[in-house]
Amino acid sequence: MPLDIQSFDLNAIGPEFIENPHPVLHALRAKSPIHRNADGSVYLTRYHDVLKVYQSRDMLSDKTEEFGKKYGQCPLHTHHTTSLIFNDPPYHTVVRKLISGAFTPRKLAEFEPLIDGIVDRLLDRVDDLGELDLIDDFAKVLPTEIISFMLGIPEEYRARLRGYSLAILGALDPVVAPEKLAEGNAAVTEFSEILNDLINHRRANPDGAHQGEVLESLIFGQHEGRTLTQEELIQNCIFLLNAGHETTTSLVGNSVGLLLDNPDQHRLLLDQPDLIGSAVEEFLRVESPLQIGNRLAGEDIELPSGVIPKGTYIHTSIAAANRDPDVFADPDRMDITRKPNRQIAFITGIHVCLGATLARVEGKIALGKLVARFPKLTQTGPRVRVPLARFRGYASLPVKIR
Ligand code: HEM
Repeated sequence: MPLDIQSFDLNAIGPEFIENPHPVLHALRAKSPIHRNADGSVYLTRYHDVLKVYQSRDMLSDKTEEFGKKYGQCPLHTHHTTSLIFNDPPYHTVVRKLISGAFTPRKLAEFEPLIDGIVDRLLDRVDDLGELDLIDDFAKVLPTEIISFMLGIPEEYRARLRGYSLAILGALDPVVAPEKLAEGNAAVTEFSEILNDLINHRRANPDGAHQGEVLESLIFGQHEGRTLTQEELIQNCIFLLNAGHETTTSLVGNSVGLLLDNPDQHRLLLDQPDLIGSAVEEFLRVESPLQIGNRLAGEDIELPSGVIPKGTYIHTSIAAANRDPDVFADPDRMDITRKPNRQIAFITGIHVCLGATLARVEGKIALGKLVARFPKLTQTGPRVRVPLARFRGYASLPVKIR
């Protein structure tokens, strides 16, 4: 049945779109590239339109007004309006400068042996288990360990982090049920209490240790004489913990799903392990962990597909941009040798993902080692998707290794 694209509304999507958005995204890109939703916002699906929005200095990320309407005054509102991702310069510049010191290539090189060690330990456990849930038993553990180490989150709290993260990020979906808002608010409150204590402890006992180094640089760092307030510290740490693990969990889970669906590409990677770098780029393109972004047009913007007036709320489809046939030949086909691959899963511009290098390193090590060590990996039961449109990943992916 042909899709009725003109009546599509991003704010009224259902489970079919979440399961597989691409038939709709292809139709939107072809027929309605600057698609108007009922609330006046637009949804962009062409690569060059999305890219231009991200590159423009006139597009704003501050969502105080939008989140005010969506949440009212509540912990979720405080969280999302204080984290750097939903702010513009000058506040965005201050927080970004303070965090970026921890993500330099030199710092990340120090983390490689740590990542290697965690992956080896996890794979030993996988070997013992034989049958496992790839998400619970592997994909989600690595990023949680890394980012917890960087922020100095003690062991005892780590198991709760993914639940918090899903509850908080879930509230960003275009459609959110009241019980999901309640879960998101409870998660921000509990998480804030834990971080408040940790920050106070670290403030009183700075030790410059490798573990928790990022937290320390956020507490004591200054940019042009400005330090972060306690609220800013708490909310940006929550953001870092969420940004750092939900997306990377999805990168690993989605990639394994793609390899299981494409046995020829799985075989190719087994035969040529050096392809892992370009394979990770292709996994990020085909199943981008973060599928939708947002900006507010601070000025009129002229895009290749038309003009968007100042004041318009813009949804960018990273997922659709990454499968635009004008940029990627045969875009629905996964090709781990694809070159060039100008995928924009980490976007571009002033908010370009700060953790992109770290996520790539984690993805390469985790997937490279998993594939090499367990070449007979097969699925043993149905996959369950995370039921969100903005974030694409699996909640469960049962597999066996022999
Ligand atoms: C595959 C994994 C990841 C993907 C696909 C991803 C994707 C993204 C995207 C698309 C943005 C821009 C959002 C926007 O402005 O609209 C972003 C921002 C950000 N990401 Fe990531 N990310 C990943 C992993 C990580 C990791 C591991 C970290 C840190 C440990 C991280 C930290 C951040 C931060 C701090 C920002 C905000 C940057 C800013 O607003 O200036 N991300 N990420």
